[in-house]
Amino acid sequence: MTLEAIRYRAGSLQILNQLLLPHQTAYDEVRSVQDAYEAIKSMKVRGAPAIAIVGCLSLAVELRAGAGGDDPLTFIRESLCHLTSARPTAVNMGRAARELMEFAENESMEKNSEQLRESVVAWIEAMLVRDVNDNKKIGNFGAQHILSGVPRDSVTILTHCNTGSLATAGYGTALGVVRSLHSLGRLKRVYCTETRPYNQGSRLTAYEAVAEGIPATLITDSMAALTMREMNITAVVVGADRVVANGDTANKVGTYQLAIAAKHHGIPFYVAAPSTSCDLSLESGRDIVIEVRPPEELTSINGVPIAAQGIEVWNPAFDVTPHQLITGGIITELGVFLPSELQAALTGRLTAL
Ligand code: MRU
Repeated sequence: MTLEAIRYRAGSLQILNQLLLPHQTAYDEVRSVQDAYEAIKSMKVRGAPAIAIVGCLSLAVELRAGAGGDDPLTFIRESLCHLTSARPTAVNMGRAARELMEFAENESMEKNSEQLRESVVAWIEAMLVRDVNDNKKIGNFGAQHILSGVPRDSVTILTHCNTGSLATAGYGTALGVVRSLHSLGRLKRVYCTETRPYNQGSRLTAYEAVAEGIPATLITDSMAALTMREMNITAVVVGADRVVANGDTANKVGTYQLAIAAKHHGIPFYVAAPSTSCDLSLESGRDIVIEVRPPEELTSINGVPIAAQGIEVWNPAFDVTPHQLITGGIITELGVFLPSELQAALTGRLTAL
């Protein structure tokens, strides 16, 4: 079965409402840029690549209906700016906005409003195919790299958050590596962390694994070090929201402690991310803006209180893993690089942010 988090058919966009998973499968119609902004902010759709794709597709929906009238360029600029402000840590929406705006400005020099709308829509629609293709390359590069360390054995992977079909246009990044290992017949098991407070692991990664028959075991975040010691973990593979020039990586909160525990146990730690998640304009992780989410995500589950009333809460959605702890490498659609090799590998391939 193929999970479809994003359903797009020329001019109509639906997203699988991830707030309702795994108990309910319901698609919400996204009719406008504002609908997408709200879906991203409320995390009906989440995951760095999916945020950018849904944001841009919502713009395509409006443009196909003639939005922007005689001045589509202003409409495109304002829409992209609004979408980029929904969640600050993942770079993908900001990068897509920058590239799309540059494209639109160039096109506008020789095209009328209708033609400009058409070419911008075509640019956006190509994102879906490009993302799935990149993810399959990431899956393949990652699987080969991990297997090169264990030529004959099956491997056991530990992953965090959800980086699968639900977080991308399809296949996934870190979970794409797991999928590739599974399809090669070399995955013994994947351990997925619950990923508090929003439970992307127990609700979403577990859902994807069960749906596809991938051998998977759910653990709480606090069991990760023990799992590394007791369960013969071959590698830890996580996704990324922003990888900066020195290789420091922002990803779902809890990633940093996994990297520390992996280092202690001598387990290779990999980040799997498309080059669109990289931001060479920032030198180190200290410059990354970390989104702080509402306290209710910690103090209640589905509206049911689970914490003492009146307690103060700190709820950063992401943390930064220092590059020194990314010992396995950064798996991209261009290959696997050590953090120290990333900048040279991507220079000239990424547009400046
Ligand atoms: O808050 P989320 O669920 O959007 O966070 C998601 C993550 O941190 C993922 O690991 C990252 O976006 C990569 S998804 C391919």
